[in-house]
Amino acid sequence: MDSYVRDIAEKTILDYGCGRGDKSLLYLARGAYVFGIDISVEYIEDAKESAKKAGYSENQFSFVAMDAHKLNFDDDFFDIVIGYGILHHLDTAIALDEIHRVLKPQGRLLLQEPLANNPLLRIFRFLTPYARTEDERPFSAKDIEMIGRDKRSDMGFEYCGLIEAPIAMLTSALYPNSPDNWLLRFADRLELWTHQKNFLLSWNQYVLLNGVEK
Ligand SMILES: C[S@@+](CC[C@H](N)C(=O)[O-])C[C@H]1O[C@@H](n2cnc3c(N)ncnc32)[C@H](O)[C@@H]1O
Repeated sequence: MDSYVRDIAEKTILDYGCGRGDKSLLYLARGAYVFGIDISVEYIEDAKESAKKAGYSENQFSFVAMDAHKLNFDDDFFDIVIGYGILHHLDTAIALDEIHRVLKPQGRLLLQEPLANNPLLRIFRFLTPYARTEDERPFSAKDIEMIGRDKRSDMGFEYCGLIEAPIAMLTSALYPNSPDNWLLRFADRLELWTHQKNFLLSWNQYVLLNGVEK
């Protein structure tokens, strides 16, 4: 995800479901104009506070409590709409209608979402039901297919976390001070191979929806 938001100076960005604005600060640091929206008034207040504390002026950012299904922005307003873990809380069709409406032609949509079938995440969800809200519905292969049929953008799907994430857990115990070790490098290559072969894609931890608006 980070590689798509490196060169964003002067770009107008919507941090969609911005939470407390941690990612917004990164986009501000790179010279973007950042609009953050979230349903939580408390998170929005925290995001404003953090941006002010970090020394940004109020003409560089705007954080507003807003429902992601009904964006209070003009059509074709943003260069980039970016969200981490928000779409799976929403009605996907309505949310995507809004995102496409507010994105400029050639604008970029970047949404990273959790997947339903990853074995580690399934165990984690089973063990921690209290850690989630009722509206969460991690994406299945069917959801991804449905999104892929939408032709309003040229959409790519990038996956991560099938092999590399569990091996990283193992190697952090085996080689505590050596993140660049042979086992992790091997896992990276193996995971890349599964992506190239379209193998068990929906078993990854996360998918990045990466679209360029037509
Ligand atoms: C998993 S958190 C991610 C927060 C942030 N993107 C981050 O990476 O730290 C999901 C966020 O979506 C927000 N959210 C849930 N439903 C929403 C809605 N209908 N409209 C706007 N935000 C919503 C929640 O308040 C929460 O901040």
